[in-house]
Parts: sequence; C-alpha cells; structure tokens
Amino acid sequence: MFVWFQFCNLFIPAIVFCSFVMLTVVPSDISWFFVQYSSIFYFLEFSNMRKMNMIVAMDTEGGIGKNGVLPWRIRKDMQYFAAVTKKVSDPAKRNAVLMGRKCWESIPESRRPLPGRLNIVLSRQLAEQNTDNLLVVNSLESALKLLSEAPFVDSIETIWNIGGAEIYDLALRENLVDEIHLTRIHKNFEADVHLKSLDFNKLKKIIDVEASSENSELFEENGLQFEIGKWKIIENC
Ligand SMILES: NC(=O)c1ccc[n+]([C@@H]2O[C@H](COP(=O)([O-])OP(=O)(O)OC[C@H]3O[C@@H](n4cnc5c(N)ncnc54)[C@H](OP(=O)(O)O)[C@@H]3O)[C@@H](O)[C@H]2O)c1
Repeated sequence: MFVWFQFCNLFIPAIVFCSFVMLTVVPSDISWFFVQYSSIFYFLEFSNMRKMNMIVAMDTEGGIGKNGVLPWRIRKDMQYFAAVTKKVSDPAKRNAVLMGRKCWESIPESRRPLPGRLNIVLSRQLAEQNTDNLLVVNSLESALKLLSEAPFVDSIETIWNIGGAEIYDLALRENLVDEIHLTRIHKNFEADVHLKSLDFNKLKKIIDVEASSENSELFEENGLQFEIGKWKIIENC
C-alpha cells in the first residue's frame, strides 16, 4: 500500500504534469484524454488517503516510556490528551486512536478501550478483532484500509496516533503525519523507550497551549515543568 502511496505521490502528479505539457505542445483529442483521465485518477487517489495527527509527551532526551508505562504522571497532560483526542467538529462523528500493542497493554484493563473513541491496536500476535470500540489489526495498511471504507470513512473524523515509539516511527517514516501535539517535559527520566525519528529541524511550532501563569509558556505540576504545543512538519505546511 505504501508503495502505492509513493506511486501516487510521485508518478501520478508527474503524469498529470506531462499530460498538460502534451496538451500545450500538441493540442489533440489524445492529449485531452490524458489530461482528463490522469486528473480524475489523481484526485480519486488523494481523496482516499487519510493522514493522521500524532500526540506524544517526551522528556529532554526524547524519552517516552519506561518499564512499559509512562515515566511520569502529569494530570494536566492526561486531561489535554483526553480532550484533544475526543474533540470533534461534527457531533455525529468520533475520532480513532491508533496504537501499538505495547501502548495498549500500558493502559489499565479497567480503562481500555479508551472511551468515546474507536481504539485501533496494531499487533502481529494478538487475534484480530472488530467490535464497535475496538479494532485489532495486524498491519497499518489494514487499519488505514478499514478507515477508508464504510462505516468508518464517514464516522471517523480524525485519526490520532497515540504511540508508542514503533507506531510513531512507522507513521513518520511513511509521511502519514499531519499535526503533532507535543508535550515537552523539562527533565530527563532515563527512559527505556525513545522517540528518535522526530526531527526538530523539520518541525514548525504552530501554537503553544498557553500556561496559566503570567508571561510563561510553561506549565508546572508537582515540581515538573513542561510545555504543550502544536507542531507541523515543514514539508506539510
Ligand atoms: N510518552 C508518550 O506520549 C507515550 C505514548 C504511547 C506510549 N508510550 C510508552 O511507549 C512504550 C511502548 O512503546 P513501544 O515502541 O515499545 O511499543 P508500541 O509502539 O506501543 O507497540 C509495539 C508493538 O506494536 C506492534 N506493531 C508495531 N509495528 C507494527 C506493524 N507494522 N504491524 C503490526 N503490528 C505492529 C507489535 O506488536 P506485537 O508484538 O503484538 O506484534 C509491536 O511489538 C510504553 O512504555 C508506553 O508507556 C508513551
């Protein structure tokens, strides 16, 4: 599927461009045929491609997890996570939260699936499941295919990639990420899982989620300082 996406990304625009050049240089019925059909193909493919937002909290070293769970407990960040991943502009819809098997297992059993959202878990070893709140699938391609078909194509507003590192890496590598909601915690937790694929040279901060204290972008909770911001990958801006 990703090879197909790459094909759509690179070759179809090239074919559309060449068709227009052909039409200018040699105006004929055949040129018109190429222009019309390559354009239709291009727009059909791109309308099917769904990007996702990503939400992550990291420490000063890019650490995101330790011993299978979050290395910190920050109430404000958890509230932000719940609010932003549930928020929809169309009340008839809901969002999906996409996660890896280890991230799923880090959520206490009593609190999963995360309520109010379609939970999608990627695993090559768990049995596939397809219920109203929970999809377990064995590849990202399967997840994106399901989301591009009925009933999810119309009922899911935003796909949120909620981690862990393997699933963030996968989506970033495949250029499937649109917005990144990032909490940066000003401390090193000596984590055992790190997010290495986030390149700050390729990111642009769109907004800071403002802290309550005056003249400061920083939040503070239990002696921990952190900032919450919304970023975009520069190529996508
Ligand atoms: N700070 C944060 O914002 C944040 C967010 C989320 C998680 N975390 C932390 O991150 C840690 C977990 O991250 P992680 O990177 O170790 O694990 P993960 O990404 O949560 O899950 C990895 C698992 O996902 C499955 N998987 C990965 N790629 C797949 C693919 N292409 N197709 C199908 N299945 C695939 C595999 O499951 P199987 O082995 O079952 O095949 C793999 O073992 C935990 O400590 C968690 O608390 C932190």
